Amino acid sequence: MRSELYERTVKHVAGVRPRRLRRLQALRTLVRETRLSVSDLIYPIFVDQRITKPEAIESMPGISRLSLSDIEHEISEVKDARIPAVIVFGLPDHKDSLGSEAYAEDGIVQQTVRSIKKTAPDVVVATDVCLCQYTDHGHCGVVRAGAIANDETLRLLSRIAVTHAEAGADIVGPSAMMDNQVSTIREALDERGFNDTIIMSYAAKFASSFYGPFREAVESTPAWGDRRTYQMDFPNKKEAMREIAIDIEQGADIVMVKPALSYLDLIREASSRFDAPLAAYNVSGEYAMIQAAGQKGWLDTRSIALEVLTAIKRAGANIIITYFAKDVARWLKEAPQ
Ligand code: PBG
Repeated sequence: MRSELYERTVKHVAGVRPRRLRRLQALRTLVRETRLSVSDLIYPIFVDQRITKPEAIESMPGISRLSLSDIEHEISEVKDARIPAVIVFGLPDHKDSLGSEAYAEDGIVQQTVRSIKKTAPDVVVATDVCLCQYTDHGHCGVVRAGAIANDETLRLLSRIAVTHAEAGADIVGPSAMMDNQVSTIREALDERGFNDTIIMSYAAKFASSFYGPFREAVESTPAWGDRRTYQMDFPNKKEAMREIAIDIEQGADIVMVKPALSYLDLIREASSRFDAPLAAYNVSGEYAMIQAAGQKGWLDTRSIALEVLTAIKRAGANIIITYFAKDVARWLKEAPQ
């Protein structure tokens, strides 16, 4: 027995057939609402001051720690792939309690930025402004009496940002999750005439287990405790919106949600609430999961990666930081979306 509602609905929609638009690949392409493009992507690179040739990172297949002398070649690949931007992470030759190598004029990131800008001035160079790779305790700030001292850390973060700008960085990316890091860095940059240096703030950065492979790659696992007194608690959405609003207010040019895949709801929310360009970081653990399943033959790496990255864009991200950037360039060249 068919209900009255069924009869009415069928009658009403009889001529509407969404499948018409799916019949051919060309039609599907025509009506596609979200197109992933290489021009959306930022490629992370790891530079290690202690090595002389690339060293593969086991938990991030396809990604290596590079030496300074590998940078020229790496950047030529990035350019050939038409990836517009890179973000540089450094591993110093020594760590100390105040992370002094992070703001050394000849620190590894500063040298790398100079080298990139010399060979490829038109590649956008972003840097990560944080202390954790440089401190012997592995925390993102100065430790006083077993706690992270926010305001003392701000001074060091400003120094890091200024040395990166001096080296030629186009974008500095504060990722320490210290309160007022954006306003302090903006002020320090402007005081020295770096008015054009862009701040991409890791505004809503969560204390996440998805950073595991990255921390292994850059040896930045905290020696004690965890990052939960500064990075955000993952169940919180309103707090994430507040963090983003605060950073925009303080002068962030680009704001970021990190990680991306388990936080698509926040990307959606942020993109509808705020007009600033929105970045999402498809982090190391998200990359590792897909690679591992691909290696086992359980998932197809290429199609899963394209699906995930397109979903991050569909959720509202304008910029995606991803270890898949070079692969995406190759995949889209082989089969444009
Ligand atoms: C530095 C930093 C981290 C990541 C980017 N910048 C690690 C952390 O906060 O522990 C993670 C990136 C990734 O997992 O791909 N603070």
